[in-house]
Amino acid sequence: MAKLCRWCWLLLASVCFILSGSAFNSIHVSRRSYSSVDAPAYRTYYFTQQIDHFGFDQDLTFQQRYLVSDSHWAGDGGPMLFYTGNEGDIAWFCNNTGFMWEVAEELKAILVFAEHRYYGESLPFGDQSYSDSKHLNYLTSEQALADFAVLIRHLKGSIPGAQDSPVIAIGGSYGGMLAAWFRMKYPDIVVGALAASAPIWQFEQIVPCNTFYGIVTNDFRKSGPGCAESILTSWEAINRLSSTDKGLFWLSTAFHLCSPLKTKEDARVLKAWLSETWVNLAMVDYPYAADFLQPLPAWPIQVVCKYLQDPGLPDMELLKQIFQAANVYYNFSGDTQCLNISQTATENLGDLGWSYQACTEMVMPMCTDGVNDMFEPQRWDFEAYSEDCFKQWGVRPRPSWITSIYGGKNISSHSNILFSNGDLDPWSSGGVSCNISDTLVAVKIPEGAHHLDLRYSNARDPPSVQRARRLEVQYMKDWIGKSRAGH
Ligand SMILES: *[C@@H]1O[C@H](CO)[C@@H](O)[C@H](O)[C@H]1NC(C)=O
Ligand SMILES: *[C@@H]1O[C@H](CO)[C@@H](O)[C@H](O)[C@H]1NC(C)=O
Ligand SMILES: *[C@@H]1O[C@H](CO)[C@@H](O)[C@H](O)[C@H]1NC(C)=O
Ligand SMILES: *[C@@H]1O[C@H](CO)[C@@H](O)[C@H](O)[C@H]1NC(C)=O
Ligand SMILES: *[C@@H]1O[C@H](CO)[C@@H](O)[C@H](O)[C@H]1NC(C)=O
Repeated sequence: MAKLCRWCWLLLASVCFILSGSAFNSIHVSRRSYSSVDAPAYRTYYFTQQIDHFGFDQDLTFQQRYLVSDSHWAGDGGPMLFYTGNEGDIAWFCNNTGFMWEVAEELKAILVFAEHRYYGESLPFGDQSYSDSKHLNYLTSEQALADFAVLIRHLKGSIPGAQDSPVIAIGGSYGGMLAAWFRMKYPDIVVGALAASAPIWQFEQIVPCNTFYGIVTNDFRKSGPGCAESILTSWEAINRLSSTDKGLFWLSTAFHLCSPLKTKEDARVLKAWLSETWVNLAMVDYPYAADFLQPLPAWPIQVVCKYLQDPGLPDMELLKQIFQAANVYYNFSGDTQCLNISQTATENLGDLGWSYQACTEMVMPMCTDGVNDMFEPQRWDFEAYSEDCFKQWGVRPRPSWITSIYGGKNISSHSNILFSNGDLDPWSSGGVSCNISDTLVAVKIPEGAHHLDLRYSNARDPPSVQRARRLEVQYMKDWIGKSRAGH
């Protein structure tokens, strides 16, 4: 019997806000990961999908890319592990979900990685896909899940020996949300789902809007004395300097910026960029050197915090340290010429597509207060958020839709979903962190950042992630066994 946690059905009544500005609405999933393991070997295929699964007026189709590896597959009804692709190039997720490659061997499973529509090569209208809101109209999680369902039916019908294969959905971050929702909506197609670092509760007021930035702050607090305080005091220091042209020039030089700050608005962009840098570091605070969003040392926040020990420094001295700290993230390789405040992560990520999704379905309220966290106070302002969305995409977000279609907090009638979350990962704020039933199970990884469990195993993995992976495999075997027994 799984242990149930008491507060699971306690709906938090707090009023929520969000930070407006693009820096705050990207989910920034894990990217490229570093591994010494041989490059995974897969074959690439394309499948003809309906552009619109939910209407019959048009019969347009596109080519969805998917990758297959059957090197460990036993055939004849052996299981299929199906990666529910998220917002980026599927080959990159494939290369970086080492856990699936390691488990394939143990389960004798065939691996399939399906690309999410509108990302990578799976563009419904080719280079016109992002041209306007008409062409973007089919970029929804529901359409993506329908793609997965249709694709799996096709695979079962066409791969010899796969007809009766139990299928398990696996994904991380938004891909983890998709894996969980896929099991909820298509329980006849997948026998279970592993949803790693999947913030399915980061919607409406299910969780307080300041939890996310509170977790980021705790990571910095724990990683060195004076660290979070230094970041907290840096915002005012930037504000003071950016009030004069001379100060703006000094900031541009001190931060080695590619293009100089000219206005106070540019200084706001600098602050948003720094905030996002600290958030990204929290997501990829892994125990070993990795190349995810950026090449980084082991426990990168501890390295960053070495520069941030004295929050009492005068403005310029403090900001020089902040620059050094940011440079750990942007220039660990030593070959970055200048810092570009319009960039924070890898090109494998579909930031543009995610920005559209955040402006339609994926409205995740976020806020900060500068007291419980190290960020400038910013309330969740849905009106401003909606205005920004309308300006950028010509559409308005529907903040209640995700909870309407996927059940929000109340998912108790579903089954066979394993939710894993790392305590260091800011996205654990919206994750399922307590056991809901015997078959809706939460696994906590205290030393884990953003879906550490999905990465290749590593000699420096903490025992908690090793334990989580073992439990994940155990549940997968259980789902497979039960489906065979006809339960
Ligand atoms: C949920 O139940 C599983 C199985 O009993 C257990 O391993 C796990 O620690 C529980 N999770 C939480 C958050 O209590
Ligand atoms: C994935 O790995 C293959 C093999 O190493 C490599 O050729 C390819 O560039 C990688 N793709 C991405 C997007 O990382
Ligand atoms: C990155 O590091 C190299 C080597 O230390 C240095 O020459 C270069 O100026 C740094 N780039 C930035 C933007 O600071
Ligand atoms: C900075 O990044 C933006 C967005 O990726 C890009 O368009 C621009 O060319 C970059 N600027 C420099 C100087 O690299
Ligand atoms: C959750 O949903 C189930 C049925 O799906 C229902 O029986 C239960 O009352 C709901 N609980 C809450 C707290 O809304």
